Amino acid sequence: MRVVDLFCGAGGLSLGSMRAGMEIVGAIDSWDAAIEIYRRNIGDHVRHADIRDVVAVAPMVMDLRPILITGGPPCQDFSTAGLRVEGERAELMTAFAMTVAVVRPQWCLMENVARAQKSLTWARSREILKRAGYGITEIVVDASWYGVAQTRKRLIVVGRRDEADGFLAAEIDAARQARQTTIRDILGEDIGGQIDIHPSRYGCTADWPTDVPGRAPRTASQSSGVSDQQYIFVRPFGGGRGVRSIDEPAPALVRTSREPPAPGYLLNPSRLDLVPVSQVPHLSQQQTSLLQGFPKDWDWSPARRVRDIDQMIANAVPVALAEAIGRVILARHRGESVPATADGFSDWLKAQGVGGQVLRNRRHALGRARRLLGGRLYADIGEELRALEEANGFADLSPSTRSDLRAALRMHADWKASKKEEPVRRKAPRGHHRQV
Ligand SMILES: C[S@@+](CC[C@H](N)C(=O)[O-])C[C@H]1O[C@@H](n2cnc3c(N)ncnc32)[C@H](O)[C@@H]1O
Repeated sequence: MRVVDLFCGAGGLSLGSMRAGMEIVGAIDSWDAAIEIYRRNIGDHVRHADIRDVVAVAPMVMDLRPILITGGPPCQDFSTAGLRVEGERAELMTAFAMTVAVVRPQWCLMENVARAQKSLTWARSREILKRAGYGITEIVVDASWYGVAQTRKRLIVVGRRDEADGFLAAEIDAARQARQTTIRDILGEDIGGQIDIHPSRYGCTADWPTDVPGRAPRTASQSSGVSDQQYIFVRPFGGGRGVRSIDEPAPALVRTSREPPAPGYLLNPSRLDLVPVSQVPHLSQQQTSLLQGFPKDWDWSPARRVRDIDQMIANAVPVALAEAIGRVILARHRGESVPATADGFSDWLKAQGVGGQVLRNRRHALGRARRLLGGRLYADIGEELRALEEANGFADLSPSTRSDLRAALRMHADWKASKKEEPVRRKAPRGHHRQV
């Protein structure tokens, strides 16, 4: 699958897509430092351009003939989304949608912060994609269930031309691992690290309130200032706990996550810290890079400023998350994954008076038609029936089987239409994801 990655940064999303089995034929960013890192580690196909200039960028992307356009437009402006203030940078999401709408690849994939889903900019970008004929799956995932040692909640948008909305949500949900990935899974047993903070330096001697119910007393190693290697400090962003057990995921990493505790934190540590903050190491830059999924030998040296590297690491789509989503897309693209028939369809058939063996036959015929369609869920029943007629092997079936398959698709379309007439509130699957 040929991919162009917009807003490619240092290349987290590109690397994950490559690991899933895709071919990156182009990547664009406007930040020279990131482009250098990308070129050094991934490839020479990266270009400098301002993606807001859709008139210049869209033809450039079109020439690369992508099947998929990916992109993680900058998200800082959505941090004020609660106030409904969306700045100029949020417009970059619109530029992504406009580029997709002009180039019209079969697939598009966008990643952003979870709160972007509520933004006016996403509402407008979504409208652009819908008018361009894309079916949209939008789902908020927690990366710690996809092989990433961070509770990083991100909006994943997958679009495919002519598809029905929500067409890939169940598969993205099913791609979750059996458990969350922990810091230990990624960094190993010996997290090493420097303990370079002394509470007394800040005039603070009591970073270990003893009046917290259920908290263990200090151990000998803790009070002697030797890390017991089971905890690490991840500087909280916007408040909260800083000391993390390595048997849990880290919070979502930001540029400052690896900095030592601020004096204010030492004076007033979180009451939820399980050991004294002064006695655990803080993350190193190599560790934040690993926690985002960049390999050990990833070369950050072309960057001149340490702060730039921290920013690129924080910006990245975690590699394992990108790989997991990429695999789901590829499986559907190759026709290897077929959407399960929703239970609601059977209930609706029963309400129409269809039951017993007839119902089972309808479901069976629907599954068979869906497999012939390579798992596609068309938004338009006319398109769907046309695609079925052209599907490999359909013409070889007996006339009565062909008619059963057509009838099953029609009934399924009627069921979908009936749901639109009477919208029902859908439950979030297994309590972790919000699906729209
Ligand atoms: C959130 S980061 C993308 C991270 C990347 N997807 C990854 O996985 O590593 C957003 C990127 O957009 C780039 N950017 C910001 N404004 C841009 C513009 N006008 N044109 C092109 N790239 C831009 C930034 O330089 C930054 O690298």
